[in-house]
Amino acid sequence: MDFQLTEEHLMIQKAARDFAVNELLPGVIERDEHQKFPAEQIKKLGELGFLGMMVSPKYGGAGLDAISYVLAMEEISKVDASASVVMSVNNSLVCWGLETFGTEEQKQKYLVPLASGQIIGAFMLSEPEAGSDATSQRTIAEDKGDHYLLNGTKNWITNGNSASVYLVMAQTHPEKGSKGINALIVEKNMPGVTIGAKENKLGIRGSDTHSVMFQDVKVPKENRIGEDGFGFKFAMKTLAGGRIGIASQALGIASGAFELALKYSKERKAFGKEISQHQAIQFKLADMATRIEASRLLCFKAALDKDHHRDYTLSSSMAKVFSSETAMWVTTEAVQVHGGYGYVKEYHVERLMRDAKITQIYEGTSEVQRIVISRSILS
Ligand code: CAA
Repeated sequence: MDFQLTEEHLMIQKAARDFAVNELLPGVIERDEHQKFPAEQIKKLGELGFLGMMVSPKYGGAGLDAISYVLAMEEISKVDASASVVMSVNNSLVCWGLETFGTEEQKQKYLVPLASGQIIGAFMLSEPEAGSDATSQRTIAEDKGDHYLLNGTKNWITNGNSASVYLVMAQTHPEKGSKGINALIVEKNMPGVTIGAKENKLGIRGSDTHSVMFQDVKVPKENRIGEDGFGFKFAMKTLAGGRIGIASQALGIASGAFELALKYSKERKAFGKEISQHQAIQFKLADMATRIEASRLLCFKAALDKDHHRDYTLSSSMAKVFSSETAMWVTTEAVQVHGGYGYVKEYHVERLMRDAKITQIYEGTSEVQRIVISRSILS
């Protein structure tokens, strides 16, 4: 076993780092404050291939492995987690789901523009009463022969307004429970689609999170992904990969905060010396670095399982729960190392601390990850 990255991995990591520093860092505080979606930056990320990283070049993607994806997600998230969540949803939830389970027609029509970054997508599972309990879908896709009639409301949708294409989970056969759910490809401009108000969030404030309503939306049958009733399994399988993306986002938030704390600790003086020379700070830095490294290894493990076509349900949930809890802890410590400066926006760490919190909530709360992990180890 060798933990060395290849030349190609290092190049991708550098490209993502350069992009983050040159394109995302300027204006990140202002976008956070004014909840401004990084539209121009996302367009450029798409042009560079970061929105369809693991998709085959045949469908407009970059054809890279999941390790490359972890590296890029970490670098982008160090600077702007609002941009990296767009990247994660588009790559892991939308593109992967379409490439793996879509028909050739669906891939040509939707995956090609999504993977090449011409448009972005959204993944719609959560509802007002179906967050962790994802089988309790109230959105209905009534089978009308050649089409489904879609009615319902989806909540907390990342890219809710900026996405042009949605993957929507909806119940067709309520008596069948999770086996009655379908995954449908819905276009934003289909009649009956309404975008609700933007959520005013604690963190990742630059990303656009909305509710989305469907009223008598006619979705052609050819827009169903997989067999009738495959929707819940589709969502679970897709989310397993999504959790690698969010684990890597959490890793990036933590390592971004750590780098800032390390730098600050070498500049700031107290009691006659740099604070990095005080053992109280050294122990914090040592613990931060150790937990971040453990997160990184768990992310790599999950990515390698995916690249080698092994089941990654367990490893992705382990990576996500550990990395997100690490991100929350490390960012809080990074604010502490900065003292009063950490509490003001100019020093970036307070934003990273706010951004860290969502990684313990979306794509399955920490409690959901523990359900997945315990089921796996008990089975
Ligand atoms: N892969 C394949 N199939 C799976 C699966 C997996 N990972 N997990 C479950 N299934 C299958 C089960 O085998 C079962 O099928 P059978 O009946 O044929 O055996 C079926 O799906 C139902 O499974 P469960 O009985 O285990 O379902 P459950 O109701 O107990 O729920 C859960 C399990 C793990 C809690 C699940 O509901 C879950 O993951 N909830 C969290 C949902 C989530 O992550 N939401 C995030 C929304 S997207 C988002 O956040 C994006 C964003 O904006 C950034």
